[in-house]
This record gives sequence, C-alpha cells and structure tokens, in this order.
Amino acid sequence: MNRSYLILGANGQLGKQFARDLHTHGAAVTAPNEKDCDITSADSLSSVIDAVRPSVIVNCAAYNAVDLAEQQQETAMRINAEAVSTIAGLCAERKIMLVHYSTDYVFDGAKGTLYTEEDAPHPLNVYGRSKHQGERAVLDSGAPSLVLRTSWVFGNGTQNFIHKLLQWSQKNPVLKLTADEVSVPTSTIDLVTYTLLALDGGLTGLYHLTNSDHASRYEWGRYVARKLSLPSTIVPVPMSMFPSPAQRPLFSAMSNNGLQKALGKDIPDWRDAVDRFLLEYPV
Ligand SMILES: NC(=O)c1ccc[n+]([C@@H]2O[C@H](COP(=O)([O-])OP(=O)(O)OC[C@H]3O[C@@H](n4cnc5c(N)ncnc54)[C@H](OP(=O)(O)O)[C@@H]3O)[C@@H](O)[C@H]2O)c1
Repeated sequence: MNRSYLILGANGQLGKQFARDLHTHGAAVTAPNEKDCDITSADSLSSVIDAVRPSVIVNCAAYNAVDLAEQQQETAMRINAEAVSTIAGLCAERKIMLVHYSTDYVFDGAKGTLYTEEDAPHPLNVYGRSKHQGERAVLDSGAPSLVLRTSWVFGNGTQNFIHKLLQWSQKNPVLKLTADEVSVPTSTIDLVTYTLLALDGGLTGLYHLTNSDHASRYEWGRYVARKLSLPSTIVPVPMSMFPSPAQRPLFSAMSNNGLQKALGKDIPDWRDAVDRFLLEYPV
C-alpha cells in the first residue's frame, strides 16, 4: 500500500523502531526528532505536516516519566493530552490518518483479570490521566484514527526494563522484583508489525496492542535473567516494598483478543517477543 508516514517522537524506543522498519520496507518516511518537531508547538507541527504532507502520522512522542509526572503535572498534560489534541485537530482538518499510543495505566487494576476495550478507564496517577485525556482527544477529534493501548514496552535503547535489569545485575547479587505487579511485556518490533497490519486492514478506533499472555515483573525478570545467564538471584517481593510518588495499578494486563480477531491473526507471546528482541539487539 502506498502510504507516506510522519513519525513524531522518532528518538524514542517505538519511534526508532518505526523509522528503522519503514526504511527497510522502502516506505516514504519522515522521522523528525523533538528539536525539529516539538509536538507542544502548534506552529512547529503544522509547518512540518504541511511540508511533508503525509498520509499517516504515527505519534510515538510522549511524556513517560510516571513518577516525575506527579510533580510535573502541567508538562505531562501538555505533551500527553494538549499536544495530542492539537495533532488530532490538524489531522482532522487535513484528513490525515492518525495512529496514537496509550497505556494500560488508564486502568486502576481493580478488575483482577485482563482488561478489554469495553472496560471503563480509571487512572490512578497523573501520567495515566494525561494519557487518558490524549486518547479521548484523538477519538473525539473526527480525524481518521487508531488508538492503540500498549504496556511495558521494550525496544532498542536504555530506558526499558531489560536494559535496567542488565545494569542492576552488574551491581547486585540479589535483585528484588515485584511479583504482584502484572502486565504484558510488549516489544517495539511487534508494535510496529501489528500497527502496520491494522493500517493495512483499514482498522480505526480503540484497540489493545500488546504481546500475548501476561507476567509479573518478577516472572519477566526471571525469564530474561535465565536467557542471558545473568549471575544475580531474582527474588519475588510485593510492590508495597517500593513506595513511589505515583500510585501504580497492580494488575493492568490487557487482552489483545479484540485486535487479534479484527486482524484474523495471532499476536506472539511476550516470551517469543523477548527471544526475538535478544537476537535482534544482542545485549
Ligand atoms: N515505555 C513503556 O513502557 C510504555 C508503556 C505503555 C504505553 N507506552 C506508550 O507507548 C508510546 C511509545 O513509548 P516509548 O517507550 O517509545 O517512549 P519513549 O522511548 O519515552 O519515547 C518518547 C519520545 O517522545 C519524545 N518527546 C517528548 N516530548 C516531546 C515533544 N514535546 N515533542 C516531540 N517529541 C517529544 C521523547 O524525546 P526525548 O528523548 O527528547 O525525551 C522521546 O524520544 C508512548 O505513547 C507511550 O506513552 C509506553
């Protein structure tokens, strides 16, 4: 399909993967970093959009510092809600398809089983509230759009849990990881693949896009540690052992069944995604 893409937030984990994979596929792609396109500036956005004239904008830019957001509420809202509303408005005016990502942190974790697209959001922290406002702004904008909620994203870079686990294990013989904090580790490789399939299938609206199955931080860490033969011993602990400024949901894992059905395809298990990630980005 002949689409041209503008990737916003191209320096982040997901933005980098999009730019890389789309280049590999020979697609027309423009991927400015924050310096060349600051999404909080309507002027910057409209001049880049009008210069590039993309058929699809993929917004990978976000403020993801969950704890810091409690102090920097205005910044989180400006990037995750107000800027997203501006992008959506520009897309609506120009009939540009907008793909936007949200988070499992729109949920409070009280359900105790997998969240579906039908469940009502109830964010516990500023980050979750800002992302919830952002997804509403896109869906209410009138732009052709796809909002994909995802969780525990890992990709090439230094911000993700796998990289942090490696760093911690170099300094600590024993690593304490939460056994009651549960979600779905999701690879940027699969996020790009299934986003592009959703575009190919003409999907619009809200879907959960994660890898399949779910895990606690402890299970995820133990899986990665075994794969990489890390020397540290991994010990399960409750989340209450790590008080943090932002309250986090305990069980925020989401079901990806809605998207699997709409695509008629299975999305791989998170363990399979970790295995492929470690082959592609050896650590
Ligand atoms: N990471 C996760 O575990 C996770 C979980 C659930 C949902 N998500 C969502 O998934 C999407 C992709 O996440 P990610 O992990 O790829 O995020 P990321 O690695 O933190 O990347 C976000 C990018 O946005 C850029 N950015 C921040 N403010 C900007 C602005 N004003 N203008 C332009 N760019 C700006 C950042 O630039 P700098 O590098 O200069 O800061 C960064 O490169 C986001 O919507 C995120 O909320 C992520």
